[in-house]
Amino acid sequence: MKIITDIDEMKQFSRNLKKASKKVSLVPTMGKLHAGHKKLVEEAKKYGETVVSIFVNPLQFAPNEDFDNYPRDIEKDAEILSDMNVSCLFYPPSDIVKNTETFLINPKYSGMLEGVFRPEHFQGVLTVVMKLFCIADPDFAFFGLKDYQQYVLIKKMAEDYFLGVKIIPVETVREKCGLAMSSRNVYFGEEDKKRACAFYGALKKTADLFKGGEKSSEKLTSFVIKELINAGFAIDYAKITDEGLGGGKTDAERGDILLAAVRFKGVRLLDNIYFI
Ligand code: PAF
Repeated sequence: MKIITDIDEMKQFSRNLKKASKKVSLVPTMGKLHAGHKKLVEEAKKYGETVVSIFVNPLQFAPNEDFDNYPRDIEKDAEILSDMNVSCLFYPPSDIVKNTETFLINPKYSGMLEGVFRPEHFQGVLTVVMKLFCIADPDFAFFGLKDYQQYVLIKKMAEDYFLGVKIIPVETVREKCGLAMSSRNVYFGEEDKKRACAFYGALKKTADLFKGGEKSSEKLTSFVIKELINAGFAIDYAKITDEGLGGGKTDAERGDILLAAVRFKGVRLLDNIYFI
């Protein structure tokens, strides 16, 4: 596995792959790799030569958030990726965002859901992902569905700018108990982690209620809110919307998605479930 830290070298690496008629798959990450990232890499490898970027992007953290303490373990991450036969680890310096004056926003979608609680977050995400796309010039890029709003926004950005990169969504990987894999789960002690599993449990019960015939968005939303409160979570939001984030209707439909963010023991958790 090649490890690249230099922007020009990364550009050249990608160019060489393309010259050799290879497709480039990019998996952007912030490191501290877990089973969810491994699934992204496994998917990416099916599509082309895989480049995994590791960059904890300061632009997407608010000053009161956990940028400084965000879990990092580059040696272990490099070992994992090398064992997975990834073609390249791109580990850029902070220069890629330093002195940035041009930022990307999506006024319609950046400010809703997550954006209400993290107003600058998606501007930071879109800006850094665009930079990574400009450097690595991928044919395919892979994003986990746990961060559903992020996936939708990046897909729209790629379409809006005719980027020629295909955005591939990848299923959320969960612990046995249902808790979505997240680098931030390391913040939990064993006992609290067990209790955090009730987050997905509440979403699943709500999706089951829908499956059992309850279609009223209002009733389904009240149900999930009650479940979450009873399990000890502080709720940022719990919303049912169509899969394009266009909003909800009076009656939920198959293919709609329930998105939620909660806080538990100082950790913010994000998850979602499709109604099927
Ligand atoms: O999902 C993430 O880990 C990050 O938001 C991303 C896409 C790597 C951008 O920094």
